[in-house]
Amino acid sequence: METPRRDFIRNAALAGAALAASNAYAAGNGPRIKVGLIGCGGRGNGAISDFLEACKVLNLESEVTAVGDAFKSQADAVGDRLKLAPERRFHGFDAYRKVIASGCDYVVMATPPAFRPLHFAAAVEAGKHCFIEKPVAVDPVGARAVIATGEVARTKGLAVVAGTQRRHTASYVKNKMLIDLGAIGPIRGGVVQWNGVVPWIKRRTAGESAADYLARNWLNFTEMSGDHIVEQHVHNLDVAVWYLGRPPVSAVGFGGRARRETGNQFDFFSVDFDFGDDVHIHSQCRQLAGTWGRVGEMFTGADGSCFGGGRIKPPAGRKLQEPEVKFDTDNAMVQEHVDLIRSVLTGKPLNEARQIADSTMVAIMGRISSYTGDMVRWTDLTRDAQSPWYNLTLSPAPADFEGGKVTLPEEKPTVPGKA
Ligand SMILES: NC(=O)c1ccc[n+]([C@@H]2O[C@H](COP(=O)([O-])OP(=O)(O)OC[C@H]3O[C@@H](n4cnc5c(N)ncnc54)[C@H](O)[C@@H]3O)[C@@H](O)[C@H]2O)c1
Repeated sequence: METPRRDFIRNAALAGAALAASNAYAAGNGPRIKVGLIGCGGRGNGAISDFLEACKVLNLESEVTAVGDAFKSQADAVGDRLKLAPERRFHGFDAYRKVIASGCDYVVMATPPAFRPLHFAAAVEAGKHCFIEKPVAVDPVGARAVIATGEVARTKGLAVVAGTQRRHTASYVKNKMLIDLGAIGPIRGGVVQWNGVVPWIKRRTAGESAADYLARNWLNFTEMSGDHIVEQHVHNLDVAVWYLGRPPVSAVGFGGRARRETGNQFDFFSVDFDFGDDVHIHSQCRQLAGTWGRVGEMFTGADGSCFGGGRIKPPAGRKLQEPEVKFDTDNAMVQEHVDLIRSVLTGKPLNEARQIADSTMVAIMGRISSYTGDMVRWTDLTRDAQSPWYNLTLSPAPADFEGGKVTLPEEKPTVPGKA
């Protein structure tokens, strides 16, 4: 007799008991996990593959119910790869609504960051578990909206996992545990870096609308990506906030643009983050080809030092008691989906909305300081409604794209001290 398939959400508790007992299903015997994808670019493609692999790791059946993208060609490329019927492929700036309504259990969001607060809110309102790529906003209002939506998700028992894969990497998790156990003493300072190159640019084609150009060349516009300190360097800032266990008190930064060819972003930032208690973390990020490159984190403790998920050096003579950290896979991007699915099946949904919104906010704080030349305090973005930055929203906003009201921002960077 064929075993009836169980529904991922409705039978989560039942399934959780079975999973806890066996830690794996015989294929076809567990719930079928149904996913929808919004944003069919590089990461969306990757995230769907990671999801499918995670289901294999857990021995669960999987289904992609729909994919959606601003552009038909993008949705079709993933649709062809996954052999999805044409009616499961959506395009346009309202495609996210159709993906969310496609019968999926969880939604993978991999559009440019500006759209995340809007899409995340819609998915949670519809009762979907969420995988949200980092970063999750481009301005303080958006980051606070993600925090609020994360709380709604919590009350609904929905899982939210963010694309900050270091938090799902065994070596990083192990070093965090060791630091918390006092292996290097309290962290007294450090440096976090993403020094690389501009990943890509797309030039405006003849007749291309402002909305389409922004959606295609999003990686070079602050309004779409948050600038590269937010879009890329958030990974390393997230490690600093995670390892220290608190956000910074203030930021003083500078930056500029030497060679970027399109858009309005900077191509280098240097920010001093004051984490209080005389602890400073230097954040450095650069997108300039031909310059020295490094991506990573280093922390100096009162008694030793630690390189992100790498070497950890306790004081001479102290032997580290290595904690045992067992992950299902060495691929952190697959592990993210394993962790999401397992958390639902065991009735303890992970909720990473607050942590990724906070780290996104930290990066935004560094950007605002660098753009304006001012010191920016954490409270300016989180609590002080009188602050000039508390209500900062970048324009065009995500809803403008659906409403057809998009004006192209000037393709030149802000001038510190004049912003
Ligand atoms: N975790 C990681 O290591 C990692 C790596 C790469 C990218 N990312 C993140 O993933 C996200 C996507 O990055 P990417 O590299 O895939 O970019 P991409 O340009 O390759 O893909 C983005 C896709 O979103 C589509 N899109 C734009 N606006 C849309 C809208 N309103 N609705 C639906 N689709 C829309 C674009 O057409 C494109 O296909 C970004 O937030 C990025 O920071 C994370």
